[in-house]
This record gives sequence, structure tokens and C-alpha cells, in this order.
Amino acid sequence: MAKIYITRKIPESGINKLREKGYEIDINPEDRVLSREELLEALKQKPYDAVLCLLTDKIDGEVFDAAPNAKIFANYAVGYNNIDLDAARERGVLIGNTPGVLTETVAEYTFALMLAIAHRVVEADKFTRAGKYKGWAPMLLLGTDLSNKTLGIVGLGRIGSRVAYHAVKGFGMRVLYYDIKRNEEFEKEYGAEFRESVDDVMKEADFVSVHVPLLDSTVHLINKERLEAMKSSAFLINTSRGPVVDEKALVEALKNKTIKGAALDVYENEPELEPGLADLENVIITPHIASATEETRSKMADLAAENIIAALEGGTPPHLVN
Ligand code: GLV
Ligand code: GLV
Repeated sequence: MAKIYITRKIPESGINKLREKGYEIDINPEDRVLSREELLEALKQKPYDAVLCLLTDKIDGEVFDAAPNAKIFANYAVGYNNIDLDAARERGVLIGNTPGVLTETVAEYTFALMLAIAHRVVEADKFTRAGKYKGWAPMLLLGTDLSNKTLGIVGLGRIGSRVAYHAVKGFGMRVLYYDIKRNEEFEKEYGAEFRESVDDVMKEADFVSVHVPLLDSTVHLINKERLEAMKSSAFLINTSRGPVVDEKALVEALKNKTIKGAALDVYENEPELEPGLADLENVIITPHIASATEETRSKMADLAAENIIAALEGGTPPHLVN
């Protein structure tokens, strides 16, 4: 009977799919990330045939070698920057991810952040709770509209496209985008405008939303110079990966009012925050929850399970990254 190790509890639906197959399943009993030593030790307990891992697990050669029988490591995430793909290739290990099912949720969450920072929702909630509300006032907590503004999308993949769709359809926004691949069909359908460089998007946009994967080429894609190129009235939204934004430079830009505000769901050194970030009023910070809805987290669990089942039954997992 195939043996599966799950590095942390995920929604039941996915685990049940694996149970129904009769697999023997071991799950990290504690609801926390395993340390590297714990992970290596856990994988050596039994000859596991598959591992379901999270983006908080760093998966490299040493980890693959601790589970030499594992045909697949199924990552419970769309991103897979936590996995050393070269080490996987050398050992012939399949790597699965969970794309598609979280696109809509992350796009919605991007708007939740964009609306919240523009309309100062978090600040206003704090203000009201603190008992500071003394009656309607014409100048109280004035925010910024999204409607008819320009949204700059950096990375027009599944999520970036869905954000653009909502921006155009829901808020009548003008959309500019930068991507390594131009998508003329998308441009026609949504009136989106391609820009040859990230810098051009940064310069023109009232809101910049980042949707690139984390790669060597996207580390600090949003750097000091590009933040300085933004309008002083503009906002930055990041629901992709923390290291895509130079967080030190961002704290400086927010302090100096180089830009008006930012809303972040991801951080350069998660779960650590850049010193000073949490002291700023013009930023919203949330704990990497853009895909965290009941519906989507269950679907991600199902997909991760389906990837494992296909690999163990000798088929091709529906969502392979390698
Ligand atoms: C979450 O950040 C994911 O990659 O699924
Ligand atoms: C992720 O699903 C992306 O392509 O944006």
C-alpha cells in the first residue's frame, strides 16, 4: 500500500481523496511548519511514495534524498519557488502544483487590498474602534477612487489577467501591463495597453499590482528606482511573492511619501517584516492569505491529492511543473 507524508494539516477533502484510495497517510501532528531537521527525520520514518508539501517547506536535494522512494512532491500552492527544480530533475522526482483553482480568489483578494488601501478601510476601522468617531465630517478620512483610474499590472498570467478583467469590467479602469509575453488578444478584449518595460507601467499607473512568479529575474523587480518612478499619488499592491519587491526601499518610499500607500500580503523574509513597516499608517499588511477561502483551500487540497493519485497510478499528474 502506498505511503504518503503530508507536511502539515490541509483541508479534509484532499486528505479524504487519498484515504479513499487506501493509501497509508502520515500527517505532521502539529499545526506548524516542521523545522528542516524534523522534516528530514519525518521523511525517513517510512519509505514514502509521495509527499504533499507546502510553500513554507524548503524542498531541495537533501529532502528528496530523505524520501528516495517518493515519485512526486505535490506542492500545496501555485507558486513553487520553495522547490529546487534542478535537484528534482536530477532525481526524476515529479513536482505538482495547484494552479487555476486559486486564480479567482487571489484576484478578488487583490481587489480587497486595493479597495481597502484606497478607501482607508483599515485605518477607519481602527479609528472607529478607538472611540474617535464624533460624527460625520466633510474632511474625515478622505480616500482615493479606483473608478476611471489607471491600473498597472506587472505580470499578466492567470491571476494578473483576472485582476485586469475585474478592473475593466467592474471599475472602468484603464489597464496597462508589462509581461515578458505580449498578449494582443487580451489587449483587444479588454482595451489593455502593453508597455515595453516595467518602468513605463510604474510611471503611468495610479495603482500597480504585481503578479509575477518569484524567479532570479524577478527578485527586486520593484526596486528603489522603480518606486521613485511612481506617481506620489499611486499605490502598490503585492499578492505575489515578497522578494519581488525591495522591502527596505518600499519602507523608505512609504516613509518619505514617494508613493501614497501600499498593501502587501507577502514579505521578503516571511514571516519577518522589514523593521518600520508595521509602524506606517499608509500600508496594509496581511499574512499571506490571498488564496485563503474555504472554497479555494479545499480545491487546492483536492488538486494536490489528484496530482499524487495520478503519479502513484502511473499516469500523468494533471498539474506538473516539471
Ligand atoms: C500561494 O502563495 C501560492 O503560491 O499558492
Ligand atoms: C498563477 O496562477 C498565475 O499564472 O498568475
